[in-house]
Order: sequence, then C-alpha cells, then structure tokens
Amino acid sequence: MASLLIRLDGRASTPLHEQIFDAIRSRILAGVLARGVALPSSRQLAAELGVARSTVLQAFDALAAEGYIVTQAASATRVAPALPDDLEVGARGSPAATSPIRLSKIARSLRAIPAGTPRLGGAPRAFRPGLPALDLFPATAWARISARCHARASTSLLDGGDPAGDLALRKAIAAHVSAARGVRCEPAQVFVTSGTQHAFDEILRLVIDPGDAVWIENPGYLGARRAVLAAGGRPVPIPVDDAGLDVDTGIARCPRARAVLLSPSHHYPLGVTLSLPRRMALLRWARRANAIVIEDDYDSEFRHHGRPLTALQGLDDAGRTVYVGTFSKTLFPGLRIGFLIAPLALVDAIAATRTGPPAPALEQATLAAFIENGDFARHVRRMRVAYRERGEALLDALTAECSGVLDPRPSATGMQLWAALSSPSSDRAVRDAAAQHGIELAAVSDYYVGRARGNGLVFGFGGVRPAALRAGVKQLAAVLDR
Ligand SMILES: Cc1ncc(COP(=O)(O)O)c(C=O)c1O
Repeated sequence: MASLLIRLDGRASTPLHEQIFDAIRSRILAGVLARGVALPSSRQLAAELGVARSTVLQAFDALAAEGYIVTQAASATRVAPALPDDLEVGARGSPAATSPIRLSKIARSLRAIPAGTPRLGGAPRAFRPGLPALDLFPATAWARISARCHARASTSLLDGGDPAGDLALRKAIAAHVSAARGVRCEPAQVFVTSGTQHAFDEILRLVIDPGDAVWIENPGYLGARRAVLAAGGRPVPIPVDDAGLDVDTGIARCPRARAVLLSPSHHYPLGVTLSLPRRMALLRWARRANAIVIEDDYDSEFRHHGRPLTALQGLDDAGRTVYVGTFSKTLFPGLRIGFLIAPLALVDAIAATRTGPPAPALEQATLAAFIENGDFARHVRRMRVAYRERGEALLDALTAECSGVLDPRPSATGMQLWAALSSPSSDRAVRDAAAQHGIELAAVSDYYVGRARGNGLVFGFGGVRPAALRAGVKQLAAVLDR
C-alpha cells in the first residue's frame, strides 16, 4: 500500500490521533481513498508517521466507530463500502424538486392568522413584547443547581422521567400556585407541558370535536386562536372591554360553546383584568353549559399595584376550569416549561392521551430545585421591582416624547402596555416603519378577528433597561414625526 502522505504537526493543540483521524477521513470523503480500498496496517502507518502504534490504533478505532473504515481480524483494514456521510442529507446535494403538497384546511386557516410582532432578531431590544428581563436572570444560581442535578441524576431521570412531569416539580408548582394564586389542587392534577401552547393543545384535543365553538377574546392572544383552529374548533370572538371578556355578549352570541380560552389576570394585548362579577358570571355559565374554562394565568406574578384577584380556578366549585401557567415570563422563554392544572375529572384522560414526554427531565428537576430552595420566589420578587421601574420609565418617556400622538394605557400587571394611536396612520404602518429603525412593536389591530376596533401599539418593557427604553421612545418619536 502506498503512503497516505499524511503530515502531522507535533506542536498543534490537536492530539496526534485526531490529526490522523481527520486526515484519513478527509481523504475518504474526497474520494482519494476509494470505498473498499485497503489501508496500510497500523504498524506501517505508525512507522511512516513516526508515532506510537497505539496512536494510529486510536485513530482507526474512532474511524471504525463512526463507520468510515471496517476492521476485521486477520485481514486488512479497509475503507467502508458505504460511508456514513452518504446517509446525511447534506452529502446528497439539493433536495429533489417536488410538486406542491396540498395543505389541510386547518393548516390553511392557521396560515391566515397574522404573524404578530416582527422579530428583528439579535439581542433583546426595545420594545419586544413578552420578553422578560434576561439581563437579570440569576444564571449562576441556575447553573449551580443544574450541575448538581446532572451530577446526581437517577437512572429514571436519565430515562426521561414521568410522562406527567417530574414529581418534585409538580409538587413545587402545586405549592406555588396554591399560595400565590389561590389555586386549589393536588400535585396529581399538575401536568408539566412545554409551554402555554402545548397546554392549550392538550386540553382542546380532549374536549373539542371538529367544528365545536370555543369563545376566544377579541382582541386576544394569537396563540389562543391558533390552538382552537389547530384542534379543529371554531373560534368565536367575544369582545373585551375595560372589565375583560364581555361574558353577557358571549352568552348572547354563542351560549352552547364547548369551551372558553382567556387570560383573566392580564389580557394580551390590552392589559385589562377580568372583573370579579364577570369571573362569577363566566363560571356560572360554564357550569350551566357544561363548558370548560381554560384560564391562561398569563403575567399574574407581576402585579404593580393593587391586590391580585384569585385565579378563576380557585373560585370554581364545579371543577370546570383548567389552569394554565408558564415559566416563559417568570424565568426565560427558551426554558420551554409550562404546566396545566386539570380538574379531577380530566386527570385520567390527560394521562392516557399525552403524546410524549413534556420537557427535558433534567431541566424539570433543575426547576423543581430552583423553586424548592427559594430562588424562584426571590427572582420573582426582584423582577416585580424591575418591571415596575421599567414600566414607569417607559410611561414617562412616552408622555414626554409622544403625547398628542400616543395615548398610553398603563397596566396594573405584567411587562407590557399599549398606547392608542391618534395619528391617521395605521398601527401596522407605524410598526413597520419603526422596524426599519430597529424598533420592535406589535400592532393592536393584528389581534382582532374581523374589523379592528383599536388602533395602537403594544410596547414590551420587560426585556431592556430604562435607558434603552428611553432611547427607543426618542427614536419612535422621530418615526412618528415623519
Ligand atoms: C397571553 C399569553 N399567554 C402565554 C404566553 C406564553 O407562552 P409560552 O408559555 O408558550 O411561551 C404568552 C407569550 O407571549 C402570551 O402572550
């Protein structure tokens, strides 16, 4: 066998066996070493390269383990007849052209929903809605707990854990929402999800048949509308005013809906809270109509003033409410952990119909420990102060720079507010013009079904510091002046 003409660099930081591995692999991929061809023996190659035979054997072992070569006792080591890279999509060039694939009615209806805020990408920027203060996330404490969970992980955790979610996490969630939100539940009712959308999907799949009516808020969270359509349901838009979802109008328009999906603590995008009389009226209707109330308790942790109202779930004596929570806002959206708290009557059905593990087991265990040792409660308390400060900075800046054009509506809770636009321009046009200057905003009219009854902009104030909020408002004022 001829020389492979490999050159090793004794001073490089890459170990010699890896250099040999790389050199042989690249010769195989380039076709210099054809499939099936015999390689020099490890002894020959070691002599040629002036390295120990064990170094060559280490490289051969790695090449064999990845399928580039085959070694057989008492015969020459050869390049594998079929290479692993043949099986990788990238190695086969561009995908074959196909004729268009017909989309389902559901997919077409989902595609017709507006995309919401345009994401300009990159680091957090003013005024990305829904973005928490990632700059204040206690990454060191999280990393310490995470490392401990990984080091001590049991085999059952490594195996994926309980399909309902990590038991320690379910207990921690039950204790937290009972104390903080007045939710009444046992850990057995808590199911971990990969976020709010996943929780909506699981519940709606259980209670909705194709074409069933589901009340949604109008305007409202696009994720709610998407979830109803994805489940094959028929979203019935119900108006929202200063007291939240107009329950009487819902009853008048569609008394036999199968479910209602709403965010009573903090409405998105208007920021209003469902009043106590409406809460009671909604629960009375749900009991009478045998409907399910899906409560997205969005942003409830960050109340800036006044006492929070007890969650609908805690007021419901008929067991018709499914409570949905997420750690996307209290911790960080990339965590992808949320939860639902099912009425006892649905627990068995959910357990039997779950389609897979809800979220990575080790992340769940980390979160459970983070809650148990008080880090979570401490972080939420700190964020409450930070969001109050950021919200006030935004409001002051809007009042100083944009009065006459924007009429901001402060919200008692959460990390965003909206401002009505009194210029003749449409909110979508302003949003798009602002995006040209690197500012992210949402247009209120995107959240309406049918004719938009509001023209305004949604400002997230959680994700960046007061100075960046003030600078963003100055830039926006310049856009509005044009
Ligand atoms: C009304 C509402 N609910 C829930 C969420 C959180 O969704 P997830 O838990 O899937 O990240 C958002 C995010 O923006 C939201 O606006």
